[in-house]
Amino acid sequence: MTDHVLVERPEAYPGVQVIRFNRPDKKNAITRDMYAKMTTALMVAGSDPAIRATAFLGTDGCFSAGNDMNDFLAFAMGGSMGGEVLDFLRALASATKPVVSGVDGLAIGIGTTIHLHCDLTVASVRSVFRTPFVDLALVPEAASSLIAPRIMGHQRAFALLAAGEPLEPAAALQAGLIWKVVDENAVEEETLSLAGRLAKKPPEALRIARDLIRGDRNDVLARIDEEAEHFAAQLKSAEARAAFEAFMRR
Ligand code: COA
Repeated sequence: MTDHVLVERPEAYPGVQVIRFNRPDKKNAITRDMYAKMTTALMVAGSDPAIRATAFLGTDGCFSAGNDMNDFLAFAMGGSMGGEVLDFLRALASATKPVVSGVDGLAIGIGTTIHLHCDLTVASVRSVFRTPFVDLALVPEAASSLIAPRIMGHQRAFALLAAGEPLEPAAALQAGLIWKVVDENAVEEETLSLAGRLAKKPPEALRIARDLIRGDRNDVLARIDEEAEHFAAQLKSAEARAAFEAFMRR
C-alpha cells in the first residue's frame, strides 16, 4: 500500500526531517491516518536530538487540498471524527524545533493554515492559498482565526478565512503568510537548504529565540480547541453535509 505521508531524513541535509504529502492522485488530501503519521513524526522530532528541523513538502504542483472530504462526510453522516486532526494541530502548535514548509501549487484548507505554524515558508510562483471553510459551512481551524489577523490584519485575514478569497504568492508574501517566492523547480532545494541551515545552528539558542518570537502557545492551543468545537458542530449541520455531497457529486 502506498505511504501517503513519507517521513525521511535526507542524507544531504543532516538534522532535517522531511514530512512529505504523497497522495498526488487525491491532491494530497489528508486522511486520519496521514494526520496520525505526521503527529508521530513531530513527536519524534521533539524528542530525538538528531532532528533539528522539520520540513513539510508536497508533490509536484500540489502541496495539499486539505482535509479529506470523505472523512468530513463520514463525520457529517454520524461517524466519528477521531482525535487525529486535533492531535496533529496540538503537536504542530507545540513544536519546540523549527518547522519550515515548501509549497508548490495548491494549498487549500489546512494546506494553507499549516503555514501559520511554520517559521519559514517557501512558495512557488504557481502556488495558491485558499481556505473555503465558510463555503463548506465550516469555520477556520488550526488557530488561524487567532494567528492570521495578528500577522496580516483583519481585512486580509477575513478575506482569506471567511470570504474564502484565494491568495496568490505575491499577496501571501505581502500578508506575511510566507517568506519567499521562487520558481517551481527551486521550491524543494530552497526549503531543504533553509531547514539544513537552521539544523546547523546552536539548538538551544535557536529554541529560545523561536520561543520568544512565537510567544505564549497557551492562547493558540486554547483557540485550536475553541475552533474545534464550532467546527465539529458545523460538520454535523445540514448546510455542511449538502456542501460535501455537492463536492462528491461534481
Ligand atoms: N478530499 C478528498 N478528495 C479530494 C480532495 C479532498 N479535499 N481534493 C481533491 N480530491 C480528489 C478528487 O475527489 C479527485 O478524486 P477522483 O480522481 O477519484 O475523482 C482527485 O482528488 C483530483 O481532484 P479534482 O477535483 O479532479 O482536481 P481539480 O484539479 O479539478 O481540482 C481542487 C482540485 C483541489 C481545486 C478540488 O479537488 C477541490 O476543490 N478539492 C476540495 C478542496 C477542499 O475544499 N478542501 C477542504 C478544505 S477545508
